[in-house]
Amino acid sequence: MNTTPARPETLDAYTREQIDLALAQYQSQPGPLLQVLHAVQQRLRYIPDAAVPIIASALNLSRAEVHGVITFYHYFRRQPPGTHIVRICQAESCQAMRTDALTEHAKKRLGIGFHETTADGRFTLEPVYCLGNCACSPAIMIDDELHGRVTPEKFDALIEEKTRA
Ligand code: FES
Repeated sequence: MNTTPARPETLDAYTREQIDLALAQYQSQPGPLLQVLHAVQQRLRYIPDAAVPIIASALNLSRAEVHGVITFYHYFRRQPPGTHIVRICQAESCQAMRTDALTEHAKKRLGIGFHETTADGRFTLEPVYCLGNCACSPAIMIDDELHGRVTPEKFDALIEEKTRA
C-alpha cells in the first residue's frame, strides 16, 4: 500500500469546483470524511492528491488523516480511471465458482493488474467484494452493467464489444 503523503499539484477550476461542491454537500454532517471522499470520487471518478489539503483544511483534519483513509480503502482511486471500469467479484460465492481463474485470465487479456489501467486508457481493472449477483457467480461489472456466469470466453467477448464501441 502506498503511504506517500499527497504531493501538491494544481487543480483546474472545474476540479476545484467539484471538490467544493462535495464539501458543501456533507461538511456539516457528523464524521463527514468518508461521505466527502465518496462524493468527490463520484464527481471526478477519482480523488486527486491535491484535494487532500483542501478536504483536510475544510474538515479540520490533518492531511495525513485524509491521506490515510484514501489509501486504506482500495475503493478510492488516486488516478483517473480508464474509459471503462471492469470490476471482478472476489467474494465467497464467486471464489467457489473459480473467480481466481477468471481474474488471472482478465489480467492476462488486459495486460494489467488490479488498480491499473491499460496503456490506451480504455480499461481499468478493479476487485469488488460481492455484487449481489451470487446466484450467477462468477460475476463482474463493466461500468454499470452486471454480468453473471462469466467464463473466460464471455469475458473476452464483453471486452471485445467495449473495444469496438
Ligand atoms: S459473491 Fe460474487 S456476486 Fe456475491
